[in-house]
Amino acid sequence: MSILDVEVIRSYIRMCDDGWQQGWHERNGGNLTYRMRPEEVEQCRPFFATPGQWVNMGVRADNLTGEYFISTGSGNFFRNVILAPQDNICIVEINDRGDSWRIVWGLEQGGRPTSEFPSHFLNHSVRKTATDGKNRVIYHAHPANIIAMTYILPLTSRDFTRALWQSATECPIVFPGGVGVVPWMVPGGADIALATSELMREFDAAVWAHHGLFCSGPDFDITFGLMHTIEKGAQIFILAMAAGQGKLRQTITDDNLRAIARDFGVTLNENFLD
Ligand code: 13P
Ligand code: ZN
Repeated sequence: MSILDVEVIRSYIRMCDDGWQQGWHERNGGNLTYRMRPEEVEQCRPFFATPGQWVNMGVRADNLTGEYFISTGSGNFFRNVILAPQDNICIVEINDRGDSWRIVWGLEQGGRPTSEFPSHFLNHSVRKTATDGKNRVIYHAHPANIIAMTYILPLTSRDFTRALWQSATECPIVFPGGVGVVPWMVPGGADIALATSELMREFDAAVWAHHGLFCSGPDFDITFGLMHTIEKGAQIFILAMAAGQGKLRQTITDDNLRAIARDFGVTLNENFLD
């Protein structure tokens, strides 16, 4: 028995590899964090090493004190996670002030959790509150088509949500709340973490202009599926705009969107309908 036999660790590794295979993780691009259930912590605890030093995050969350997260390492490649998980991912514990982490397992060749840990951490905090504790996954990736959209559409939640909803009939069913958009900002710090988490109060996904996408969800399947659906919608948008030389002959209308919502029992964000 090794920690790599624990179900949650296996599922986490599978998601990293799925993202790599989609082409969303060039070099060290992207990062994945998972807030562990108490029973999952206990399954992994026999394999914990002597804890590392506490490291202050520059952000704080009262509702995440004492939690444990699985995280990809900063500078580590998603491509390598499946080959050597113990060197590319880690488990961190959060202190009782909710402002620092320490490594309790993994990154055995050295390293630290993703440079985007402050953004992940504040997103976990607001999504945990928004979902009554159900949210567990925050996922950041660099899918090409959603990034391409940030060069041709106004950087508003309304413009992005409408374009994506109209790109494929499944989109309004999968993300009826729409997507947030963060303007271009320097990544890796507290400022972009705060801006993203403000949007994550309302949305379960946020676009980072000219950079990538953040998605959240209760488990790996739902979160990966959200990333996949948004990026597929973006791909169709880019293909249609390119093929039509910037003109669309027809699209899914607002009446069509309302009909989908009615028949599938989802509530669309009314701010984004005409
Ligand atoms: P890390 O390697 O620190 O996770 O950074 C990758 C990235 O996507 C930064 O936004
Ligand atoms: Zn990134």
